[in-house]
Amino acid sequence: MTILFNDQLIARDEARVDVEDRGYQFGDGVYEVIRVYGGHPFCLEEHLDRLERSAREIRMPLPYSREKTEHLLLQLIEADHLKEGYLYVQITRGVAPRDHAFPSKSEPVLTAYAVESQRPTDLMKNGIRAITQEDIRWLRCDIKSLNLLGAVLAKQAAVDAGAQEAILHRNGTVTEGSATNVFIVKDNTLWTHPANHLILHGITRAVTLKLAEKEGIPVREEAFSLEDLRSADEVFITSTTKEIVPVVAVDGIPVGTGQPGLVTRKLQQAFEQKIG
Ligand code: PDD
Repeated sequence: MTILFNDQLIARDEARVDVEDRGYQFGDGVYEVIRVYGGHPFCLEEHLDRLERSAREIRMPLPYSREKTEHLLLQLIEADHLKEGYLYVQITRGVAPRDHAFPSKSEPVLTAYAVESQRPTDLMKNGIRAITQEDIRWLRCDIKSLNLLGAVLAKQAAVDAGAQEAILHRNGTVTEGSATNVFIVKDNTLWTHPANHLILHGITRAVTLKLAEKEGIPVREEAFSLEDLRSADEVFITSTTKEIVPVVAVDGIPVGTGQPGLVTRKLQQAFEQKIG
């Protein structure tokens, strides 16, 4: 595995994390996961826009210009001959003596690597089971921060229950999944939580909303309740690595017919065309 460490491509066993790296000690940094189809990064500009925004929101300088970052990521894809998979990219505030406040001097540290991975076609076809969980995360979920304990605990609760994703809610209002955005279909209308501070503004979410518009599916970017989720005709999740995956059961109760729904299928087909 090749590692992009700042602006150098090095072997994995040459890469080292300093014990006082603020990403390691505080989760003080941001990240992106970028899908690669046929050797080409998908929605690269959107991911870099979001990376820049996340960094700005935590008042962290980025190490390189947009052009240089892009060039380095393309070099990484080439070095590993990546065709199908994704890039993981993270930037921390750098290395400094441990103190919660920002250090007066530190250089951001960029780490990225490529992972070979096929599209999850089985999940896309057959769907997944989800559980619901109280959303105990902070109030800036729009920042793609390295602090993921809330997501880690929620996802583990899903795994412990024999499910594949946790759908989070704040006092009965559904926000998103532990690492996905959540949509429901009710009376042929698509609902998803508005892109505010309570959810990550998913790139796949935005692509899906555009596809829905093109397909003439009415869309409401409005919060919906756990009751709406339970009585939905269809439920699906979206993410960079999962694309559009139907949820066929929530808390052990079948969604609609218990089979992936028609609107979900239509959007999956439209997504497939877009990446093809
Ligand atoms: N997760 N919501 C959360 C909390 C996420 O962590 C993610 C992405 C999404 C979907 O965003 P996008 O469509 O831009 O991938 C929504 C990534 C894939 C991860 O942490 O692995």
